[in-house]
Amino acid sequence: MSSPIKSPEQIEKIRIAGQRTAEVLEMVAPKVVPGVTTGQINDWVHDYIVNTIGGAPSCLGYHGFPKSVCTSVNHQVCHGIPSDEKVLKDGDIVNIDVTVDVDGYHGDSSIMVALGEPSIQAKRLIRVTRECLLLGIATVKPGAYFGDIGEAIQNHAHQHRYSVVREYCGHGVGLKMHEDNIQVLHYGKAGTGLKMEPGMIFTIEPMINAGRRDIRLLSDNWTVVTKDRKLSAQWEHTILVTETGHEILTRRSNEDDLP
Ligand code: MF3
Ligand code: CO
Ligand code: CO
Repeated sequence: MSSPIKSPEQIEKIRIAGQRTAEVLEMVAPKVVPGVTTGQINDWVHDYIVNTIGGAPSCLGYHGFPKSVCTSVNHQVCHGIPSDEKVLKDGDIVNIDVTVDVDGYHGDSSIMVALGEPSIQAKRLIRVTRECLLLGIATVKPGAYFGDIGEAIQNHAHQHRYSVVREYCGHGVGLKMHEDNIQVLHYGKAGTGLKMEPGMIFTIEPMINAGRRDIRLLSDNWTVVTKDRKLSAQWEHTILVTETGHEILTRRSNEDDLP
């Protein structure tokens, strides 16, 4: 297993990859309006990563994943495959999950976009899920435990009578898209798990369901959906543990409310 602690030189490279990842999401978010297909989202993301950034989409070909971005719509929890047949309509909510490889270093981040006039319930789920991410991030500092992140997220979700998906978690990231040196559960108990140290880099990416936490895998072997077909939302950032706290490596320029 590779060390979970990155060197200053590696951190600088991963910081650049993280900034580029944020830039992709800023570029694509305003284009996602009713009538657009998830296949178009894939093409915009792919072209920007390859031609503007000069990087590579880490998802493309990852364990056979066929596209350059994950697009998960409404009751899809994660790993939705973009398709030219999937037309987004007014009221849909979609998670766009982008991982960018710049010179062999990776940043990983995802956002929710709501199209047109989403329901009050959909807007609330998106807001609370983002709050779950931010509350998780707020716990990150040297000496804290990974269980602190999980408890903060779980408490907030349950306060709103939502459930937390348990089958997928945050992960070490940087030298690969998924490093097996760190696992970030989005549920659990404060004071448990691995202790955080400066130089650790990992994602926090809570998947929060409006209904029950149970999920199902579609026959495409990628798309994860809620069993009860109720809505699911997810937000993700790549986080560095610093000497004094944390740095959000995938921070977007319009995010002025981060912990
Ligand atoms: N970016 C996703 C994550 O947050 C991973 C996508 S893997 C893929 O971990 F193969 F589905 F693209
Ligand atoms: Co991701
Ligand atoms: Co991730």
